[in-house]
Amino acid sequence: MDLFSPRCGFWRELVLVAGLLACGICQGSAQMDIASLTGVVGQQSLLVIRNAPEDVQEYSWHRGANDAEENLIISYNTTSHSQQKGPKYSGRESVISTGALLIEESRLNDTGNYTVQAAAINDTQRATGWLEVQEFETLDISVNASIVLEDVDSMAAICHTNNTEVQWYVAHTLVSSSESTAISPDTKTLIIKRAKNYDSLLQCGVKIVLGTVIQRSELIYLTMAYGPSYVMILSEPSNNNGILPAEIGSQMEMVCVFNGAPESKYHWIHNGSLLSFSEKNITLPSLTWDQMGRYRCIVENNLT
Ligand SMILES: *[C@@H]1O[C@H](CO)[C@@H](O)[C@H](O)[C@H]1NC(C)=O
Ligand SMILES: *[C@@H]1O[C@H](CO)[C@@H](O)[C@H](O)[C@H]1NC(C)=O
Ligand SMILES: *[C@@H]1O[C@H](CO)[C@@H](O)[C@H](O)[C@H]1NC(C)=O
Ligand SMILES: *[C@@H]1O[C@H](CO)[C@@H](O)[C@H](O)[C@H]1NC(C)=O
Ligand SMILES: *[C@@H]1O[C@H](CO)[C@@H](O)[C@H](O)[C@H]1NC(C)=O
Ligand SMILES: *[C@@H]1O[C@H](CO)[C@@H](O)[C@H](O)[C@H]1NC(C)=O
Repeated sequence: MDLFSPRCGFWRELVLVAGLLACGICQGSAQMDIASLTGVVGQQSLLVIRNAPEDVQEYSWHRGANDAEENLIISYNTTSHSQQKGPKYSGRESVISTGALLIEESRLNDTGNYTVQAAAINDTQRATGWLEVQEFETLDISVNASIVLEDVDSMAAICHTNNTEVQWYVAHTLVSSSESTAISPDTKTLIIKRAKNYDSLLQCGVKIVLGTVIQRSELIYLTMAYGPSYVMILSEPSNNNGILPAEIGSQMEMVCVFNGAPESKYHWIHNGSLLSFSEKNITLPSLTWDQMGRYRCIVENNLT
């Protein structure tokens, strides 16, 4: 999951927004408010104050829609930098220097109203905002074919989510509709036309937490059927241009290799006769005169 690093970016952005808006007050008019936020279970949530008065002496954060003393979570004195805990303090909250409330390891029941009181010398303002803590949705992905013929078959992948802005990744790269791929209008289906071997890794993702974090599904590996081509016999001891001098009684092993998938059947022919044997490797533990001659390997892929 790309959770960690974008989250740091998210943080910086919010602090920046708060800073810019605080400057907006220099023209003095806008009402103080709290940027409504979405948090994720287990992660940090940050409630940012916008349009705070100048020279705030103390920020006090409360649970609920008012600033009653019994609902105090924590207050922060901007001069002494000290924090005072209230009855609703759970051990996970702190106020950062911009006045924002930081909640560690958010829980579903942190969802609700939060009220901040910002006390400046001649002016005390209050604002209430709503924090919504969500659980990560598990993204499931499915495909309509488990094996596709390279360059022939088309396939469709579906991302099972209620999100309407699904992103698609093919071989880890974000894709959009193009000649070879199509994304349905609801973004939940990806169609790959004439799949290629490099299309075999699929993933979908959705943006969460105000679009700052992308949650991704598991990777789906498609099995591509292609080849066989470049059929070769490797041997131990190794051969030289297909000629292998060997001593009677010595051991030798041959392995049939090729470019293609899936792996299907092997046939071995020795001096024109089909051997009864259909493995990838042949081991001859002790060479006899009969075993001399020409070996040939045939690879059969019954899908292609
Ligand atoms: C949250 O506060 C708003 C007013 O700011 C109020 O209308 C709403 O009912 C409150 N919700 C809850 C669950 O307390
Ligand atoms: C909130 O949920 C946690 C478990 O996630 C629980 O331990 C805690 O008591 C709950 N707090 C309240 C106020 O319901
Ligand atoms: C606070 O108000 C008093 C009188 O209204 C004024 O003299 C003083 O300059 C104000 N202080 C600030 C920081 O605005
Ligand atoms: C999968 O979907 C694609 C695109 O709709 C279609 O061309 C293909 O025939 C489907 N494959 C199977 C096995 O249904
Ligand atoms: C989509 O929303 C419906 C109704 O809210 C819910 O029953 C369903 O489980 C959701 N599906 C997913 C994949 O989250
Ligand atoms: C087949 O041959 C390869 C290369 O010599 C060897 O690494 C592998 O273990 C052999 N496999 C079997 C099943 O004999």
